[in-house]
Amino acid sequence: MNTDTKMSVLYTREEIDDAVKKLASKLTSTYAGKNPLVIGILKGSFIFLADLIRRLNFPLEIDFIRLSSYKDARESPGNVTITNNMTADVRDRHVLVIEDIVDSGVTIAFLIDYLKTKNPESVRICCLLDKPSRRQVPVKVDYTGLTVPDKFLVGYGLDWDEKFRNLPEIYCLED
Ligand code: IMP
Ligand code: MG
Repeated sequence: MNTDTKMSVLYTREEIDDAVKKLASKLTSTYAGKNPLVIGILKGSFIFLADLIRRLNFPLEIDFIRLSSYKDARESPGNVTITNNMTADVRDRHVLVIEDIVDSGVTIAFLIDYLKTKNPESVRICCLLDKPSRRQVPVKVDYTGLTVPDKFLVGYGLDWDEKFRNLPEIYCLED
């Protein structure tokens, strides 16, 4: 797709689909009948969320929050800010946060603290990818699709400098 950037496939469509299927089955056991509020973190989670919720065959609601922590591609995370807030009322709801990848943990830790000030019934985290080797803040990730190595990944919603989100597979960027 881009001849200037060296990258190799880390997860194929089939492997991603398999991970999404397994997550959906776990989430169904926990959330069926609870009308959860599913909150996607933009932008990275939009493709994962779209695939995941189509495997959840029970009533739920969707909202989005846009957070920014990386100032530039590959830069270490700084303060997290809400750049577009959600509109749903979180109070007394079972909240399920959908994230593309948990890296340092800074983004998720910020969001959990933020949501808890709004008195939800419960808050859990579901990420497609977890990069535990890079953790700077301890966070409890309740549902993980794939545990990934310390590499910069793109595709399936994940970007490098806003590029490559549209790739259907997950790729490793080679530096
Ligand atoms: P955090 O370091 O856990 O706060 O991760 C924050 C955000 O950084 C994630 O939501 C992703 O959008 C982005 N991110 C972390 N690692 C990668 C990666 O390997 N590729 C693309 N984006 C990443
Ligand atoms: Mg991102």
